Amino acid sequence: MSLRADNVYRFYRSGDEETLAVQGVSLEIEAGEVVALSGPSGSGKSTLLACLAGTDEPSGGTVWVEGARMSGRTEAARAALRGRHIGTMAQSGNLLAHLSLLDNLRLARHIGHGTGSIEELLADLGIADRAKAWVHELSGGELARASLAVALVNGPGVLLADEPTGELDEATEARLLALVRGRAEAGCAVLIASHSPAVRRVADRVLLLADGRLVA
Ligand SMILES: Nc1ncnc2c1ncn2[C@@H]1O[C@H](COP(=O)(O)OP(=O)(O)OP(=O)(O)O)[C@@H](O)[C@H]1O
Ligand SMILES: [Mg+2]
Repeated sequence: MSLRADNVYRFYRSGDEETLAVQGVSLEIEAGEVVALSGPSGSGKSTLLACLAGTDEPSGGTVWVEGARMSGRTEAARAALRGRHIGTMAQSGNLLAHLSLLDNLRLARHIGHGTGSIEELLADLGIADRAKAWVHELSGGELARASLAVALVNGPGVLLADEPTGELDEATEARLLALVRGRAEAGCAVLIASHSPAVRRVADRVLLLADGRLVA
């Protein structure tokens, strides 16, 4: 499978306080699947996604990406694995403000060594005419699509998205989800943390987190 978590824990400690953000989560996401990660605010969705993406290190348990162990390695090793296999997306979190949209994509491409046409990707997302725009010149919906473009620019086997449609109108959300579905059909494994009913509808399955545990 493309993405696997075995008994993942993540604790946060500050002073005597301990927060059990993720408690023993195991999951598998196959190529071609779109899976929604649902659950109340504070249930651990973003923390889990960060552990899966390797931007954070679990306190316990193991994460596997495309058959390679992601957790328990150096930050550099995790970054290399992420660059090769994972696209991550938040509404604006993966764009650099002092670069144009096109230069953001070129930089991401340079780091990740992907292939395929950047122009075609922008056209698929309906933002080819905004390629030269600065990030601050993009609308919320354009920003979300630009962020998806950066996540997909290297043709990742795994797409991890944290509330990608939070600030989008329904039509733009539907368009973005259709593009994500298209990538899944091309073999990408997709996990989307979201409160949106539209994301749950488009998903093949829904995982429900409560207090850091998968309850469904
Ligand atoms: N860096 C941190 N230090 C301490 N506690 C944290 C930290 N990050 C998250 N937490 C706590 O861990 C728990 C899970 O947070 P997380 O951000 O994963 O929730 P979430 O499900 O993504 O919520 P939301 O739907 O609001 O985005 C929360 O109780 C949160 O306060
Ligand atoms: Mg969150």
